[in-house]
Amino acid sequence: MFALLRLFMRGRTELGKDEASVEYIPKSLTEPLNWDEVFPGSAPIEIDLGCGDGAFLMAMARANPEHNFLGIERLLGRVSKICRKVAREDLKNARVLRIEVAYAVSNLLPAGSIAAFHLLFPDPWPKRRHHSRRAFTTEFLSRIHRALIGGGLFHVATDHADYFHQIERVIAATNTFVVSAEQYHFPPTTFEQKFLIRGLSIQRLLLRKASPVK
Ligand SMILES: C[S@@+](CC[C@H](N)C(=O)[O-])C[C@H]1O[C@@H](n2cnc3c(N)ncnc32)[C@H](O)[C@@H]1O
Repeated sequence: MFALLRLFMRGRTELGKDEASVEYIPKSLTEPLNWDEVFPGSAPIEIDLGCGDGAFLMAMARANPEHNFLGIERLLGRVSKICRKVAREDLKNARVLRIEVAYAVSNLLPAGSIAAFHLLFPDPWPKRRHHSRRAFTTEFLSRIHRALIGGGLFHVATDHADYFHQIERVIAATNTFVVSAEQYHFPPTTFEQKFLIRGLSIQRLLLRKASPVK
C-alpha cells in the first residue's frame, strides 16, 4: 500500500509547478465536476477518452482555441508526459484527468455539459473471453448521451473490425444517436498513424445526439 502511494507521489513530484497544473485533480470523486474550476470561461468542452500520449488532444487544442479539451487517461506515465508537453507549449485549453474512463463518464461529468467526446482506438480486447472489458457498451453509450449537450457529437474510431461491429450493433439497438454524414477533418492520433503505416483500415463513426434517453 505505502509502496504504491510512494510510486503515485513520485510520478507527481517529478513535474514542475506549471506541468503539474495541467493535470486536473478533482476535489471530490463522488460529485460532478465543476467546469469553472477545470477551465475558466464558458467555451464548449470536448473530451478525449483514453487520450494516450495526448497527440490528438493537443492537435485539437491548437486548432480549436475557442474550445476546451480534457483528456482522460489512466496511465500515470502518459499523463505526466502530456503535462510536460502541454506546459511546454503553454496550451491553456488542454488539461488531463487521470482516472478510469467509465468511472468518469458515469460519475464525474455533469449532464448536458459536453460538446463532443472522442473515443479513438480504444483497447480492442480481441480475445472473446476479454470482450466484456471493451469500453463501448449500451450502458456506456447511455452515459455518453446523458453527458452530451443537445446535438453533441460522439466521435469513435478503431482499426479492429470485430470491435467496430460491436459498436455498430450497440448503436443500432438504441435510437438515441444518428450517424452524421458531416465531413470533419480530424488530426491523426498516434495509434492511428501506427496502424496506417501497417496498412490497416480505419473505421470511423461520427454520432450526433438525437433524443433524450427514456
Ligand atoms: C490503444 S491506446 C489509444 C490512445 C490514443 N487514443 C491514440 O489513438 O493514440 C488506448 C489508451 O486508452 C487508455 N485506456 C484504456 N482503458 C482505459 C480506461 N478504462 N480508462 C482510462 N484510460 C484507458 C490506455 O492507457 C491507452 O493510453
